[in-house]
Amino acid sequence: MDLKIAPSLLSANFANLQADIEMINSSEADWLHIDIMDGVFVPNISFGFPVLEYVNRLCKKPLDVHLMITDPGKFLNEVKHIGAYMMNVHYEACIHLHRTVQQIKESGMKAGVTLNPATPVCLLEDIIRDVDMVLLMSVNPGFGGQKFIENSVDKTMTLKELILKKNSNALIEVDGGVNLETGKRLVDAGADVLVAGNFVFKSYDPTSTIKDLKSLGI
Ligand code: DX5
Ligand code: ZN
Repeated sequence: MDLKIAPSLLSANFANLQADIEMINSSEADWLHIDIMDGVFVPNISFGFPVLEYVNRLCKKPLDVHLMITDPGKFLNEVKHIGAYMMNVHYEACIHLHRTVQQIKESGMKAGVTLNPATPVCLLEDIIRDVDMVLLMSVNPGFGGQKFIENSVDKTMTLKELILKKNSNALIEVDGGVNLETGKRLVDAGADVLVAGNFVFKSYDPTSTIKDLKSLGI
């Protein structure tokens, strides 16, 4: 299968982002995962659009942007401007999710919908055919380096069943606590894209860690 790996910039060295982005460029990573937080939807703040404009200039891989902010549709133009390939909005943060998804697609980006750990997959039944990806949070959003929530493996299977039942082309991405052990179980359950922050950037050799994750798809 074509498993995609998306290292998360949140765990990179903020004092030298250029070096870490160059490592991503020359690695087997498929996408670069970017976590934007507002201190309201999640209890943390990460980086904003001025920084990401430079990230976009340096990064040769598609940007997978994960918005952990309230009312994310408000920032559609900014997200487009930083060169996002995929714009992921939280189900819990959008009152008119269908409208937001349509607007993302009309702007030329791919549309992803993200579910917090306690939000059930069945709530996506009426939108699953309209989205390009579902991002399942396998930790509570806001911080890197947290412990993997075990229920995420069953949840991945449930989502895969829904996608097949509804004839949807949506990819399944999983984010939080991913390593070689949890990653293997997620791939077996149906995951198409794995996000990994700490496991990649805090490893001795991030390039070969990305390669090891990529090989879970072989
Ligand atoms: C958490 C973020 C993740 C985070 C994952 O809110 O959405 O993308 O960077 O980090 P790890 O892989 O360390 O759990
Ligand atoms: Zn994320």
